[in-house]
Amino acid sequence: MTSVDVQKAPIKADKPVPASGVRTLNLSGHVGFDSLPDQLVNKSVSQGFTFNLLCLGETGIGKSTLMDTLFNTNFEGAQSTHDLPGVKLKSRTYELQESNVKLKLTLVDSVGFGDQIDKSDSYKPLVDYIDAQFELYLQEELKVKRSLHNYHDSRIHACLYLIAPTGHSLKSLDLVTMKKLDSKVNIIPVIAKSDTITKSELQKFKLKIMSELVSNGVKIYQFPTDDETIAELNSTMNNQLPFAVVGSMDEVKVGNKMVKARQYPWGTVQVENENHCDFIKLREMLLRTNMEDMRDTTHSRHFELYRRNKLQEMGFSDEDSMSLQDTYKHRRQEHLAELQKKEEEMRQMFVVRVKEKEAELKDAEKELHAKFENLKKMHSSEKAKLDSKKQQLEDELNLFHKRKAAAAAQMAASTSTLSGKKKK
Ligand code: GTP
Ligand code: MG
Repeated sequence: MTSVDVQKAPIKADKPVPASGVRTLNLSGHVGFDSLPDQLVNKSVSQGFTFNLLCLGETGIGKSTLMDTLFNTNFEGAQSTHDLPGVKLKSRTYELQESNVKLKLTLVDSVGFGDQIDKSDSYKPLVDYIDAQFELYLQEELKVKRSLHNYHDSRIHACLYLIAPTGHSLKSLDLVTMKKLDSKVNIIPVIAKSDTITKSELQKFKLKIMSELVSNGVKIYQFPTDDETIAELNSTMNNQLPFAVVGSMDEVKVGNKMVKARQYPWGTVQVENENHCDFIKLREMLLRTNMEDMRDTTHSRHFELYRRNKLQEMGFSDEDSMSLQDTYKHRRQEHLAELQKKEEEMRQMFVVRVKEKEAELKDAEKELHAKFENLKKMHSSEKAKLDSKKQQLEDELNLFHKRKAAAAAQMAASTSTLSGKKKK
């Protein structure tokens, strides 16, 4: 082995070596690795970003309008039907560009949510869809030849849950669905069509929704407060949840500006006016401030949980200090032993079934034999009866012939007697 001489940087004697063994040194000039963040930015910008948004809410609640308004474009979604037997999810992917940043956006829209009479299973297609995306990612991760850098990540990063503006309380469907989804996706509750509810009712409704979510243990997405630059904004916004939004792509002239609004006979509701609704807050929080955090939480919390459960289900565990290969061998042996046991059970079952069938067939044969003997007996007794009948008839016929012959002889005799008398 060749030894390599490492030129060690001089250490000042007064600087203690930390317990970790890693020494902090000062550079005597500019080296250039301070451009690492810029390199990361450039790499990310050239790769483009992915964001997958699930918009969930009952039919006609304003999902498509809100999506169009959020991304300021027309996604051309056709109206959904109300007559589906169950809930479905419709997913469409778009390439968007703002300045030099490319975003591959996937919008997933619920179809028929809340339309069924029995809504107890409405959450299942949603859970299945989210899990299926996690599974796809996990399968890619577990491949021998992985290509995660150009893999289209379809895991849902955020779920906008549109609540009907009833002013009353959350529906049980809302609570059940959010509860089922809260460990799988970042839920942002939103009061839809909030122009249909008065200001004072809205405040009470918001408080009611939050207290219901807390009392039912539903965990919604909290905007992160660990980054100082956005901590204050995010904590203020956390206190204003759920956002009350209005959606519209119609432009109305207000002053000398064209603004997005909904126009009514009595006035105009401006979408981007913070006195009218929380649309701006939602857009800022979702797209501008916390998009990366939601992507990160999806990977580090929700996917991690899915991955952990899945691997534990497959028999992998960190506790029993077995290597991945040992665990695999152990599981394989267990599996083979189980297969052998099942095979043996099936073989025994087969033998028992064959014996049962044989016994059944023997019984059936015996029965048939008995029936045949019976028929044979009946046939011979019937034949004997017929034979005696035939004999009787033959006897009667013989007797008849004899009597006939006697009668004929008698007739002939009397005829000759009569003719003799006449001659005389
Ligand atoms: P489906 O896809 O059919 O389930 O409907 P959707 O949830 O996508 O609703 P959509 O965006 O098609 O809107 C349904 C109706 O609600 C349309 O007439 C919209 O103009 C209206 N609408 C949408 N947003 C709002 C809103 O914020 N306030 C009011 N008052 N009406 C709205
Ligand atoms: Mg729609």
